[in-house]
Amino acid sequence: MKSGWTFAILIVSLLFAGCASAITPTAKRMPPTSTATRPSDPPIALPPPRAKGTLSLEETLARRRSVREFTDAPLTLAELGQLLWAAQGITHPAGLRAAPSAGALYPLEAYAVTRDAVYRYEPAAHQLIVHTRGDARAALYTVALLQDSILRAPTTIVIAAVYARTSQKYGEERTPRYVALEAGHAAQNILLQAVALDLGAVPLGAFLDDRVQQALALPREHQPLYLIPVGHPK
Ligand SMILES: Cc1cc2nc3c(=O)[nH]c(=O)nc-3n(C[C@H](O)[C@H](O)[C@H](O)COP(=O)(O)O)c2cc1C
Repeated sequence: MKSGWTFAILIVSLLFAGCASAITPTAKRMPPTSTATRPSDPPIALPPPRAKGTLSLEETLARRRSVREFTDAPLTLAELGQLLWAAQGITHPAGLRAAPSAGALYPLEAYAVTRDAVYRYEPAAHQLIVHTRGDARAALYTVALLQDSILRAPTTIVIAAVYARTSQKYGEERTPRYVALEAGHAAQNILLQAVALDLGAVPLGAFLDDRVQQALALPREHQPLYLIPVGHPK
């Protein structure tokens, strides 16, 4: 799929006219078809993130490569927590996070799609909220242009954005740019953290926005921007 994914975007854009514009905050969007969320499940506390590793930043940068094939081994809760902390974890008493954010408005939401459930990350408490129970990876694979990396990875981290958090201050013109830049910051943090944990990951931009939202029953205002399958490299 590596060499074909850009071509696939073109084909899918042609087939699904209007799909590309779905990323804009003002677009009218379909509500998710499923709302089988699980607010009654207790939150899952994540182990405190570690503040030290064995690889230097330079080694981590040099080793980062997109990884699309994984073993069957699931991520540990500590590994998943560390990856989510790298994306959006709190790193300052004032609530500032590992990735920068325009106006510290933090429009991003991170989800983890695993064999057992779809979880939403809550940075303030460094915990997981059960969003939906069950394995949504096959559904996600279908709406992400059949990219095998999603089926092969034990976990796919989804970066979604609530555009209104940023647009209330920065308006409709700057907001799409700011939010996309922030998603890039968060994604790069995840990719580098994966290397530092001896894991592998690949950032996926080729998917059908509305269909991903439906497949994962995301709230209407949580617009998916990036999918990042992550696991133990094969
Ligand atoms: C915005 C963006 C979107 C991407 N989307 C996909 C994708 O949908 N599928 C995929 O397999 N790789 C995707 N990639 C990964 C690139 O193919 C990869 O970064 C590139 O081939 C360079 O290889 P490297 O990451 O190992 O340096 C994407 C990368 C970026 C930055």
